[in-house]
Amino acid sequence: MEAEFKRLVMRSPFQVRIEKPLREGDSTLLYPFDARIAWVAACYHRTSSRISWDLCSSEAVRLDPLYADLLPALSADDRLPGGEHLRFSVEVGSSTDFEAGPLQLRGVVKNAIVEALAPRGVAAEIDADSPDVVFVVRRAGLPEARRTVVGIDIGGGARHRRGARVAMGPAPLRETMAAQLVMLSRWDARTEPLVDPMAGGGTIPIEAVGLAVGAAIRKPQDLVFDHLAAFKDLPHDVPDLFPGTVPRILALDVDPSRIPAMVGNLRAVGLTGPSHEDSIVIAQQDLRTLKPESIERMLPASRGMKPGVFCFNPPYGVRMGGEDDKKLLALYSEMGRVFARFSGWRAACFVANPEFIEAFGHAPTMTKPATNAELRGAFLVYQF
Ligand SMILES: C[S@@+](CC[C@H](N)C(=O)[O-])C[C@H]1O[C@@H](n2cnc3c(N)ncnc32)[C@H](O)[C@@H]1O
Repeated sequence: MEAEFKRLVMRSPFQVRIEKPLREGDSTLLYPFDARIAWVAACYHRTSSRISWDLCSSEAVRLDPLYADLLPALSADDRLPGGEHLRFSVEVGSSTDFEAGPLQLRGVVKNAIVEALAPRGVAAEIDADSPDVVFVVRRAGLPEARRTVVGIDIGGGARHRRGARVAMGPAPLRETMAAQLVMLSRWDARTEPLVDPMAGGGTIPIEAVGLAVGAAIRKPQDLVFDHLAAFKDLPHDVPDLFPGTVPRILALDVDPSRIPAMVGNLRAVGLTGPSHEDSIVIAQQDLRTLKPESIERMLPASRGMKPGVFCFNPPYGVRMGGEDDKKLLALYSEMGRVFARFSGWRAACFVANPEFIEAFGHAPTMTKPATNAELRGAFLVYQF
């Protein structure tokens, strides 16, 4: 997350330095607020799941003391949205260590917001279907010093929803996870080809192109910015941040029914047509027959480039035992033999099958636990 963000801010329209973030748990980075940096994150950042502008927090674990903390803090906060009328919603994350249920917690935060805005002449009402502003509530901090944090969602909700995927495969990788996978592979789009040998709906190749060219995933006018004074003078256009980069990507799958789905998803994000045909190539191919020369044949533009990277998520299999399991393990070990032919290449994958590493037969250089749509697994990185 951090490496991607640094790279984006450096190429953004702003001359701004980004400070090292604090870490909250394993998966949250905290940056000091700067509207320009927040604008870059909200419009371009691909690996984050949500982006919140934290406003205030309270150590209270019961409803009345929480309200007593939030009301004065929010009342004095000139960052809150203005206007005469505000439709808003409140989303509560995991709050099992709070001494009331999530609905009650949401009710108290809602009341504090309504009461804080009323003296300013803002009539605020809940509208969960089409809110102008979404407030987010999360429990955060070390176990002995937990807080309830209230913020504004500035990233346009759950960011794996890019708004473009038209065909879902049987086990699609979340877009945010696909982007993380590509970042972990340390792919250099200017000098290395990227191959997804089991691309399914094409999520990884699509995210790879987006990262390579620095394409926006949100438009400022679709975000909350019009309601927040801090973002008033920031740009409305979101051009690619790395416009000169032409990535070389090969997306393969053995299943012929996945090919039209992949083409449809690429078309939906504008990655088909003559200007992309040398850049991203789709083919039906069994990974088990892949050789270095087949990559050059299918993706001629990769000739002369350095050894590349494989980015993929293999089928995980449902733990049924018997023949299907054996076939899956045989596939993993054949994959291991195939990748051994690719000297100098790297591979990054997300796998949710604990037997993968042994069957694949190579030792990963990096292992990072992760969860995809409730499936626990790990990112693995290999060097061949
Ligand atoms: C978990 S899915 C990949 C999902 C994909 N990353 C996405 O987000 O849509 C695994 C894919 O591996 C493909 N596959 C299975 N065996 C293969 C093989 N031997 N060669 C190439 N692809 C294979 C399947 O058809 C399936 O589309």
